[in-house]
Amino acid sequence: MKGIILSGGSGTRLRPLTKITSKQLLPIYNRPMIYYPLNTLIKAGIKEILIIVAPERAGDYLNLLGSGREFGVKFTYEIQDKPEGLAQAFIIGETFIGGDSVTMILGDNIFEDDFTEEIYSFKSGAKVFAKHVNDPERFGVVSFDQEMKAEKIVEKPTQYISNNAVTGLYVYDQRVVSAAKSLTPSVRGELEITDLNNWYLEKGELEVAMVKGEWLDAGTFESLLHAQNFAKEKLDSKMII
Ligand code: G1P
Repeated sequence: MKGIILSGGSGTRLRPLTKITSKQLLPIYNRPMIYYPLNTLIKAGIKEILIIVAPERAGDYLNLLGSGREFGVKFTYEIQDKPEGLAQAFIIGETFIGGDSVTMILGDNIFEDDFTEEIYSFKSGAKVFAKHVNDPERFGVVSFDQEMKAEKIVEKPTQYISNNAVTGLYVYDQRVVSAAKSLTPSVRGELEITDLNNWYLEKGELEVAMVKGEWLDAGTFESLLHAQNFAKEKLDSKMII
């Protein structure tokens, strides 16, 4: 199992904080934001991790994280030239992924749960993690049928379909590279992770697990503020990096 942290984008919603640095390097209590998703991967035993960054911030990431030796893992870096979607990560990461399965986590997603078993029990297809939220219009959202099987996933639904947000942690088998290549950009010009998830869903190969603990997408001022306190109260003592 390989790991990817997608930490690109320009963080426009967090200006002026992100004028001189990347959103995912902003402090969350006593650590840079990216430490939290990195901790999730390392804790799950993943040793080879690709970090995908925006070109203008690449030097900052190298200075902060280096080779990975300090953390007992190996980092590889790639550039995402433009924010052209989360699913593009698998095209950028084609060589890195090789024939392996891969877990991707977003650089601004902070989880309380330990996913070691969820990741290691994965065999094939795709596995995503959902969480009940009050503001589903901000996310990819999954609806379930009566047997609690995933029915469909819609990116930022304008009409209510459910309160279950698909969080920024995804596990895929090696077909993810060719699946990502088969996607066409959405109206916002991005290769959508939601389309990738629907690619697996249509084949009956998408598993949805629920996130039990707290989950934060630290992409707004409000969630950033909340993340600071959450990190101090709940996460600090559990971090291994
Ligand atoms: C992205 C995905 C969305 C997912 C969210 C999780 O949204 O497109 O499906 O629910 O991450 O953080 P974005 O951060 O691009 O708004």
